[in-house]
This record gives sequence, C-alpha cells and structure tokens, in this order.
Amino acid sequence: MTTTIVIFGASGDLTSRKLIPALYNTAAKNRLPADFQIVGVARRPWSEDDFRKVLQDGMQKYAPKDYNEGQWSKFVQGIHYYRVDFEAGDDFSGLDGYLCDLEAADKKENEASNRLYYLSVAPNHYPTIVRKLSAQNMADEDNGHGWRRIVIEKPFGYDLATAQALNHEVHAVFDEGQVYRIDHYLGKETAQNILFFRFANTIFEPIWNRNYVDNVLITVAEDVDVGTRGGYYDTSGILRDMFQNHLLQLLTLTAMEPPASFAADLLRNEKVKLLNSIRKISLSDTVRGQYEGYSMTQGVNPESETATFGQIKLYIDNWRWQGVPFYIRSGKALKAKVSEVVVRFQRPPTMFFALPQGEDFTPNVIAMAIQPDEGIHLRFEAKVPDGGQHMRSVDMDFHYSDSFEGVVLPDAYERLLLDAINGDAALFTRSDEIEASWRLIDPVIKGWESPNAPPLMIYKRGSWGPQAAEDQLKVDNRHWRIYGHIVPSKHA
Ligand code: BG6
Repeated sequence: MTTTIVIFGASGDLTSRKLIPALYNTAAKNRLPADFQIVGVARRPWSEDDFRKVLQDGMQKYAPKDYNEGQWSKFVQGIHYYRVDFEAGDDFSGLDGYLCDLEAADKKENEASNRLYYLSVAPNHYPTIVRKLSAQNMADEDNGHGWRRIVIEKPFGYDLATAQALNHEVHAVFDEGQVYRIDHYLGKETAQNILFFRFANTIFEPIWNRNYVDNVLITVAEDVDVGTRGGYYDTSGILRDMFQNHLLQLLTLTAMEPPASFAADLLRNEKVKLLNSIRKISLSDTVRGQYEGYSMTQGVNPESETATFGQIKLYIDNWRWQGVPFYIRSGKALKAKVSEVVVRFQRPPTMFFALPQGEDFTPNVIAMAIQPDEGIHLRFEAKVPDGGQHMRSVDMDFHYSDSFEGVVLPDAYERLLLDAINGDAALFTRSDEIEASWRLIDPVIKGWESPNAPPLMIYKRGSWGPQAAEDQLKVDNRHWRIYGHIVPSKHA
C-alpha cells in the first residue's frame, strides 16, 4: 500500500524549513509507512531535480544537525515534483493522473493508495484547491481508493464569518474526519506536557481551581519583529496571528476538564466546552501595543494601527474557574523569546513568618515553560537558614534536558505530520473549535478597529511591551514575571 503526501505550495518556505526536515527525521526513525512518497506541487517551472536540490539546501540550512548525506540520498528517492497553477484554467486531472501513475509503480494490483493533501499555500487558494480536488474525485475514499486526508495550515479564516464559510467549503468535499486543521503549538512536546502534568499526576489537579488559584498568566513573547512578513502581518495583527490559535490552545490545555479519554473527539469536546465557557471579552480588559518603527516596515501601511502586542484579561464562567482572571499576552520585538503558562496560587490564610526587608510576599507558582526553557518550575517559600523566622522563595525545577539527557525534543511538525498520517486528529483543531475561538476573538478584533478601541501604546523594541500591560496587572495587584527566564536550565 502506498502513502503519498501531496504538498500544495511546495516551493514555499514552510516546506523547506519545517515539513521536509520533519518528514526526513520521521523517516530516519523508521516511523513512516512503507512505500511512502512526497509530491511537491507548486507553480514554479521546476524539474524534479531542481525541487530536490532546493529541499536539500533547506535541510542543510534549517536542520544541519539532522542532515546526513547517506540518509538524505535514500530519502530523496521518494520525492517528486509536479507543476500546477492553482488558479489558472488547469484542472487537477493531470495531477491526479500523475499521482495514480506514481502509486501504480509501487503498489500491487487492487491495493489501495492513501493520500494526505497538505495545503501550505496562501489561504485564498484553499477553496479553489478543495473544489478542484473534488472535481476529480480526489477526496473520494470509496471504491477501494484508500484514505484521503487534508491538512490545512493556519490562518483558517480571517474572522468568524470567513472561518464558517471555509468550513462549509471544506465540508462540501471532505468529511470532518478527513480534515486536519493544524496549529503547530499543539505539536510542541511541552504544550502536550501540560496535559500530562495535570492528568498523569494526582497532586496538582485537586488544587487546579478557583479555591486555590489566584490567577493564570499565559505568555508567548517573541524577540523577533515581523521581518519580511510586513504585508501579511499588517492585515493580520497579533490577535489573528497568535491569539485566535496558539494562545487559546494553550489556554484550553491549561483550563479544560479531564476528557473521558484521549480519543480525538472526546479531547476536543472538552476544549470546545471550555472555549464556550469563556465570558465575552470586555474591550476595557484589553491592552494593545505596537513596537517602535513597525510602521516603517516594508509592506506595512505607514499609518498602520495594527497591534504587534496584545494582552487580554478573560474569565471562564464555569464551576472550576469562576472569578479567576486569566491573562493572555503576546507580542513581537520583545525582550526575549519565551512561552510559558504561569499558575499563581492564593496567599495562605494567615502569615506569621517574616520576609527579608523590602521584599513582597511571593505566592506559590507553578510555571509550565513551553520554550526555550522546556520544563516545569514550582516556586514555594522556605526558611532562610539561620535567619530566625525569615522565609524566601525557592524553586523546584524540572528541565527536559536534565531529566531526559541526550533526548532532543522533536519539532512540532514531526509529531503532527505523523499523527495525520496515522489518522489521529487529537492534536488538530475541529471545525466547531475553530469557530468557537473566532467567536471569542472576532469581537476584540472588531473592537480594536472601532472608535472604542483602547489606545494603541507604542513600546520600545527589546522591552516587555507597553507599560499599560504591566499596569493592568498591577491594578489587579498581580505581578508580571517571566519565570522561565529567571530559572534557566543548566543546559541553556
Ligand atoms: C506563527 C506566527 O504561527 O507562529 C508567527 O505566524 C510566529 O508570527 C510563530 O512567529 C511563533 O511560533 P514559535 O513556534 O516560534 O513560537
């Protein structure tokens, strides 16, 4: 049985930077099905050799540590290229014929051939490609064809209405069970570890609620600016680029109820339930910022009001979280790249120990570090030795690099591609989930474009964002702290 991954938009950056290194590493671990092949589809008039060369250069540039000449020359035999102009008159009959010929060369008579279509193209091509696949019956799993699945990259929609319209287009051709909407944050080992930490242990879950938790702070800070993506970014902004997807995914993993099992639909039911329990976000609970000099970026409107930083305070109206504020924040051109989920606990009911002069009391904190630090930290108070009744905060640390020495955490795409090939959709976003997340973020996007928008705060590159964001936490008497940053791994 052959399995073919057909990458639409194969000449793009994602293919060289992420998809091919991920598939190469999976092949090196012998995890891909036998008779696996890759067909790159794009508009460029490349030969198969041109394409292979581009991918080889990409491997050497983006995954030099993984690259091995011998391994590559084996892997590359299964890589092919087919030229298609998605929007021009071309239908996909030529492509289907090409795929059938490739499959026929490898399979035994009457054997099924599986296909994974990967859409790594600009989102305006999604509907066209889906329709053209349908016109050639290329989504059809009947008649012994084998399975047909489609992976769709973000952004899935531009707002709620376009996400719904896209779901409608996709469902006209593919059943939901064939659709894999990707959010690479779910492929990160440390993001998945949030679920393991919560549900593979007994000691944390009993305190994971409004009775013990004071607030939760989820940060995805980036030190890079928008770089060469000004054109895309200026119409997207931080809310579409990071909040609707990655930040809300981290939030659901942190706050959802335990699913009955880790089967895709049971897990996703809980995530949807959580998203549907989030109270409508109030504009006055949001802070928006833009880094200095953003409007001078190529492709960006010089008058642009697009936010490159956002902070939102939100509440989850359910039994577990009623009244606990969740702060989610993200920005570009900040001081450092750090993603983490910090759960801060309430103060003890009484306090009879003393703090060193001038220090504030620090409540217990569990920080789940996603990147670049990869681990978990528990902060608690300890007696200062020979210090009378004085206490000080100390940390108990877990770092992947220390506890799993020599193990390199795989890139998110490795896990996600393999899951899609194996038919496990647990780490992919379901149609109702994507719509629920847009339903939350869309009003904030519209609010930020309205006369009632909070002021756009300009912040310095290399800072932690606008002062207003820190002030929002201070007003609530909560401190803004980057935990992963102050407890680096000894391997960092
Ligand atoms: C992408 C965004 O989805 O995620 C980028 O479009 C962002 O703007 C990136 O830089 C961050 O991903 P990671 O894995 O580097 O945190």
